[in-house]
Amino acid sequence: MKAAFYRTQIEALIEQVKQNNCVGSKQNFTIPVQHHIDPERLAAEKKVFARTPLMIAHSSELSKPGDYLVREIDGRSWLLVRGEDGRARAFLNYCQHRGTLLLDSESGNCGKKISCPYHAWTYSTAGDLKAIPHRELFPDVELDNKALKQGGLQEAYGFLWLSQLPSAQLPIEKFMGGLHEEMQAMQLQNYSVFFNKTRTLNANWKLPLYAFLEPYHIGVLHKNSIADFFIKNIASSERFGPHIRSYVPRKNVLELESLDWEKAKLSEFVTPTNLVFPNVCMISHPTSISVIAMFPGDSPDTCSWQHWLLVPEMPGNEKQRQHYEKSVALLDGITYMKEDFWVSEQIQKGLNAGALDELTLGINEFMIQAYCENLDNALDSLGAQVH
Ligand code: FES
Ligand SMILES: [Fe+2]
Repeated sequence: MKAAFYRTQIEALIEQVKQNNCVGSKQNFTIPVQHHIDPERLAAEKKVFARTPLMIAHSSELSKPGDYLVREIDGRSWLLVRGEDGRARAFLNYCQHRGTLLLDSESGNCGKKISCPYHAWTYSTAGDLKAIPHRELFPDVELDNKALKQGGLQEAYGFLWLSQLPSAQLPIEKFMGGLHEEMQAMQLQNYSVFFNKTRTLNANWKLPLYAFLEPYHIGVLHKNSIADFFIKNIASSERFGPHIRSYVPRKNVLELESLDWEKAKLSEFVTPTNLVFPNVCMISHPTSISVIAMFPGDSPDTCSWQHWLLVPEMPGNEKQRQHYEKSVALLDGITYMKEDFWVSEQIQKGLNAGALDELTLGINEFMIQAYCENLDNALDSLGAQVH
């Protein structure tokens, strides 16, 4: 973390801690229930996803030429593959002959070519059609016209970013705006993926994000896991275009006042979270970083989520390995799975039951309000129907 980037916010946070007063919005805010149960709203949100660079994989997951990953987004299979030229590309994972899924395992190395299992049309890792068996059977087909359909794929900040609509692709630095400098300073390309899992959830994709954007629940929902690490009910945040940077103070945060911030390890004193619009939370723990990406499901009350736990380097001995295993057990196994994600499913049941008129936010839940405004703005700019 870069001290200069955080200074103003952390000073504000320390002031709030001293005064035991969370500076939030001036008034309560409500979110319509409809935003979590309406298929039309979901369809509009998926259009926002289609036009936004999505953090889809850590660069190290495609470390060598021929390495590939298969990811399903909004019912379509994407093939991410690193070419012989070292560049990673994204293709719709379907053969241009008759549409067969080309690669069906989640990951692997395809060597220099991708060969369809049906009739063996064969593509290069750059997506060009290279060979048609019994070429004479297709006198009217030009190889050049049958390349795989490509999405936009950018590699930045240690991650691969997919733009499903290449024509709408934003350069990643522009997309990141004011958060660019910090994303770059995090040097996530030097981290390793210690844990990586994708799961489905019976809840709207936004509900877990709300849980990462407010400190109000920490003392209650997390009382058996992480609550003791934090000062209750205080958070500070900053908006960078559609992205949000937030900070929650750990119990020892006041010790920072007597330390040189350039030398201190700030994540031992505050927990910063980057919400990268629209669907990713990056949470800096003292010795690791959780990156959690939410993806809408087929219906408003289902989604899938991926959790990468990034570590500065892979453990070199048993003691380090056990340390990170413990982090996974506490963070993924309990804090997220049994608490934040569990409660999201409980909330969805209440919303589906028609049990409340609206979701109500306290003044210290103001970051959720900011997030909802950002999403509404994105929906408005699509000209989508917003309910
Ligand atoms: S469908 Fe792929 S080669 Fe026929
Ligand atoms: Fe939480």
